[in-house]
Amino acid sequence: MPTLVEIAHEHGNTDERTIEHLSALLSEWGMLADFCFADMLLYLPTADKKWIVAAQVRAATGQTLYDTDLVGLSADLVKRTMIDQAFTSQKVVTGEIQVDSQPDAVSLMAIPVRCDDRVVAVLTREWSTRSGRKPGQLERTYLAIFEDFTKMISTGLFPFEGRVADATVAPRVGDGVIVLDADARVRYASPNAVSAMHRVGVSTNAVGQSLAELGVAQTAARNAYERREPVVEEFEQTSEVTLLTRTIPTLKRVGRDVVVTGGVVLMRDVSELRRRDRLLLTKDATIREIHHRVKNNLQTISSLLRLQARRLKSEEAISAIAESVRRIRTIALVHETLSHEAGEDISFVEIVRPLLRLVEEGLQSADRPVKFNVLGDGGRLPATIATPLSVVILELLQNAVDHGFPEGSAGGAVLVTLSHDDKSLNIRVTDNGRGLHSDFNIGMATGLGLSIVRTLVTTELAGTIQMRPALVGDSHGDLVVNSNGAGTVVDLKIPFTGE
Ligand SMILES: Nc1ncnc2c1ncn2[C@@H]1O[C@H](COP(=O)(O)OP(=O)(O)O)[C@@H](O)[C@H]1O
Ligand SMILES: [Mg+2]
Repeated sequence: MPTLVEIAHEHGNTDERTIEHLSALLSEWGMLADFCFADMLLYLPTADKKWIVAAQVRAATGQTLYDTDLVGLSADLVKRTMIDQAFTSQKVVTGEIQVDSQPDAVSLMAIPVRCDDRVVAVLTREWSTRSGRKPGQLERTYLAIFEDFTKMISTGLFPFEGRVADATVAPRVGDGVIVLDADARVRYASPNAVSAMHRVGVSTNAVGQSLAELGVAQTAARNAYERREPVVEEFEQTSEVTLLTRTIPTLKRVGRDVVVTGGVVLMRDVSELRRRDRLLLTKDATIREIHHRVKNNLQTISSLLRLQARRLKSEEAISAIAESVRRIRTIALVHETLSHEAGEDISFVEIVRPLLRLVEEGLQSADRPVKFNVLGDGGRLPATIATPLSVVILELLQNAVDHGFPEGSAGGAVLVTLSHDDKSLNIRVTDNGRGLHSDFNIGMATGLGLSIVRTLVTTELAGTIQMRPALVGDSHGDLVVNSNGAGTVVDLKIPFTGE
């Protein structure tokens, strides 16, 4: 569907000021349609003296005459005559037209749209008198308001300059309307407005009272009357109820002056919306709190296991539990780190460092000191990848210590190097220890540690592992690996799945 701007340009109306004025009108005219219970169409003149529909709006308060979209179509002869008349006389013209879908004649009101000192378009209100609403007080009041706006449109006082309503939250007529007189006293309050006011504790009959007496939107109204432009105010009576009000003054030209004749306050109960906003704000804090609790729970589990291990006699059972405790503490570490982060991802180095410390703590023999280092940057990782990956790294570090520097050896160094591009994360764990057995083959390794590594890396993380003896070239800065002609290098490549 072509936009107002496209249609205007197509027909040679490229004046920026005009287009701005008409766009502002369109951002407000849902309210106009609601006040007059009718379809509204915006007609632009064409070079060949026709009128073309540039935009269309239906009333939320009434039935539409047009199921189809009329944008881009031109007016038939009868309509054209009336629109022409409104355009040249610069006055509102009313009459009847025939519409294909309607058995009876349809009423039409053609309103000249004035921008500065000329008429630039014609707005029509089109409605069937047959299917219209039964006139009650609400209907009479709304139509009177509509008439005020009609005069403002034809004298260039509506739409207002500058500020445009935020259509996503702006209250509409159906949400609740208060009609004010020139002294900002309530002339009428729609049933929905009365209910909304009830919710903020105003239970007196509002009619005849000023907004100040009611304690609702009074500053907004004062500002709107003073500045002669709409004012939006959010009104919070308690933390439970929030009313969003939009006060629009109605204006009239008197000689060279513009005077305020009254106003309308559209009000919407946005309590639910604001509650959700507040929830979103606290969501981050909640996630952090949950990570914190998960960490605490994991620590409790590892303490329980340690207690149990103390009662065991079998060396094998004791070391099996010690390993489990270490793995659980590794996962707790990730949650600990996550509980300090705002989002659901973490800078990976932040996990690797404490992991090294964890392994270092487990090493208590001064006779074979091991130096630990991290180089590079792994970027940020989502928790779903960081958790299994830290378990993997723990196993590799533990192996470097257990098998690279067994009892009787002189100790050495372990280095973790991290690097990443936008496709994958590369992790290398190097030690300058004893090195792998000559017949070592990672595919055949049956130990629990490497089985965990293999499963997590290839299945869970869809990555690859390579293990090989260290070469003379595997040296980094102050950590010279393989000075004694041995050592092990483990390479991991973990693709980012783009989740
Ligand atoms: N960094 C390393 N240096 C030397 N040997 C290693 C290294 N990492 C793993 N290995 C070899 O791989 C085997 C399997 O390791 P793993 O599956 O973790 O079981 P475990 O550590 O319980 O022996 C080890 O027993 C060891 O022979
Ligand atoms: Mg192991």
